[in-house]
Amino acid sequence: MAYRYVVQIGDERLRKNCEEVKKFDKELWSLLDDMKETVRKENGAGLAAPQIGINKRVVVIDLEEGYFEMINPKILSVKGEQTGTEGCLSVKGKYGIVTRPLKVKSEYRDRNGKKHTVTGTELFARCMCHEFDHLDGVLYVDRASEMYDEKPDEE
Ligand code: CO
Repeated sequence: MAYRYVVQIGDERLRKNCEEVKKFDKELWSLLDDMKETVRKENGAGLAAPQIGINKRVVVIDLEEGYFEMINPKILSVKGEQTGTEGCLSVKGKYGIVTRPLKVKSEYRDRNGKKHTVTGTELFARCMCHEFDHLDGVLYVDRASEMYDEKPDEE
């Protein structure tokens, strides 16, 4: 495993539409291992492959609910709404207020290509929306109603 440099906003690699993964091989596993090391070292809740300069539809999420490797993820359905603070390892030192669905049901493939579905609420739902956006070249700053240089107090 190796830590990988996280590219920052302004880098055009964050703005590309990422490609579907077709081969669930050692190259993918090594990418996933690097992403795990990077997200943990950076204390992130999630990381998408374009954030380390790889144009593939691969996301890792690291929350209380568990550690998820999500390949070719797709949102199947959403419910409700939540408004709260978001940050991103590619937008260091900034925070923004973003409205997201409260509940998200997704499908994805694991590192062996097996299909799974998962339902997340609150932070997990927010995290899936944020990370999946990265795969379409979308950053949370595009959706934020307000931006801050410090983390605002949660109500
Ligand atoms: Co992000």
